[in-house]
Parts: sequence; structure tokens; C-alpha cells
Amino acid sequence: MTEHIKIENNGGVLSLTMARPDKKNALTNAMYGALADAIEGAETDDSVRVVLIRGEGDMFTAGNDVGEFAAIAAGGSHGERHVSRFLQALARSSRPLVAAVQGRAVGVGTTMLLHCDLVVLTENAQLSTPFVNLALVPEAASSLLMPLRIGYARAFEMFALGEPVDARSALAWGLANKVVPLEKLDAEARAFAVRLARQPAGAVSTTKRLMRNPEVLMAQILAESEQFAKRLQTMEAREAFSAFAERRPPDFLKLAKQPA
Ligand code: COA
Repeated sequence: MTEHIKIENNGGVLSLTMARPDKKNALTNAMYGALADAIEGAETDDSVRVVLIRGEGDMFTAGNDVGEFAAIAAGGSHGERHVSRFLQALARSSRPLVAAVQGRAVGVGTTMLLHCDLVVLTENAQLSTPFVNLALVPEAASSLLMPLRIGYARAFEMFALGEPVDARSALAWGLANKVVPLEKLDAEARAFAVRLARQPAGAVSTTKRLMRNPEVLMAQILAESEQFAKRLQTMEAREAFSAFAERRPPDFLKLAKQPA
């Protein structure tokens, strides 16, 4: 358990709140574990008809905790890693997933939205997937889902250059359903969730299953995570994590003469 994920079941809507605002809701292993447990648990809990994902503070999430990436790269992280269980739970969830996104959604903060069925953004929302900036590769089946959703040209720019996408573009490109003022975010996202909760649950989940194939998504997640694990061990990644810790821009050109 972690105090950084708050869970509340209200009227058929299971609300999962990332609550580590001082670290911009950066996701730790414990947080992935709590989210995975909750989404897996919802599958066998008839009282849960919809899952709502949200974040406390001024941004949805700054993505994976970069300090934990660095610890894994340095071989200093042991025990079960819950991120794959979280991604699997997202990909397999038969419950509709709704997301309420304010401010930035970085890395997995954006890729998890590709698994959500309704996404509400605030006007100041910014979606970004700077995996390559950290010398890593896309995850959460986003290497498949993102180009499918927004086309190769936009997806490659997002991945390879880490270019953020603002709320209006995200809406126009089909990454979100609605853009609302910040003060309306909670109400609008909850209204979506409550409407979904009142729909016939069997028809909703069967529709979702027809639109999303978990087996295809799982195969992509596996292929990505093999590459991701390899990239974590590279000199490039070490440079990226050191630069983050030292609050300086990374210098990948100095690695040009060293093995990748
Ligand atoms: N992992 C770990 N800690 C993080 C984090 C992350 N992904 N994102 C932010 N934090 C921490 C910062 O280190 C800082 O901690 P400190 O107060 O102890 O120094 C705190 O959260 C506040 O972040 P700060 O950078 O000061 O906020 P900001 O509003 O100026 O910038 C971001 C916000 C998201 C632009 C910036 O924090 C950032 O780029 N984070 C990394 C995002 C990232 O690369 N994620 C992985 C994607 S694959």
C-alpha cells in the first residue's frame, strides 16, 4: 500500500488518484502496484462499473519516477516491478476507463491515456512522451497505439523529439474527448463516468472488447519492455539520468565514439 494512490468507490465509479503532488505525481513502483491492484480488483468487483484516473496538484503526472529508472539502471533495484502488472491491467481492463488530465501528462502519463476510453483535458494540458530524450523507447503498447490514433508523422515527432502536444491539438488528433477549463475538470470527468456507469455494463464491456484486443496489446507491451530493459542499461540512458539528477541538459554527442 502507498499513501500516494487514493482510492474511492462512489456510485459505481472507482476513482484512483495519483497523490504525490510535491513530485508532480511521478510514479513509483509502489504506486504502480497500488494502481494495478485496484484495476485488477475492479474486474471481479460488481460494484465497480467505471474506473476514473486522476491526479492531485498542478499536473496529471510527470511519468515514471526517473530516480527509480536510474536505480534500476545501476542494478540497485530489487523485488517485483509492478509497472508491467499495471500496464497489463490497463490493457486487459473490461471496465471502461475515464481520465481527468490537468497540466502535464508525461511519459506513461500520456501512454496510459491510450488505454482510457474517455479522456477529459484541461485547457492547459500538455501531453508528451519523451522516452527517447531519456534514451529509452515507448511503452504501454504506445508504439502501436499512438501511430494508429494520430498517424505516424505526429507519433514519431512526439516519440523521437519529445514534442509536447497541447490540449487543442490533442482533441483535434483524437487523443481526447473534451477540453474544459481547469475548474470544471473534476465535474466533467465525473459526469462522463457517471453516465457510463448508468449504461448497461455488459454491452459497454463487450463493445470495448470488440474495439480493443488485449492479446495484441500484450504482445506489443512485451516486445517494448524487452527493448526498454536493454535501453536502461546503455551509456545513453546513464547520461540522461545523470543529467536529470544534476538538472543539466544531457550531452549524447559525447557518447558518439563509445559503444551504444
Ligand atoms: N521523477 C522523479 N522526480 C520527479 C519527476 C520524475 N519523473 N518529475 C518531477 N520530479 C520531481 C523533481 O525532481 C522535483 O523534485 P525536488 O522538488 O525534490 O527537486 C519536483 O518533482 C518538482 O519538479 P520540477 O522539475 O521542479 O517541476 P517543474 O514544474 O519545473 O517541471 C516537469 C515539471 C514535469 C517538466 C519536470 O519535472 C520534468 O521534466 N520531469 C521529468 C519528466 C520525465 O522525463 N519523466 C519520464 C518520462 S519517460
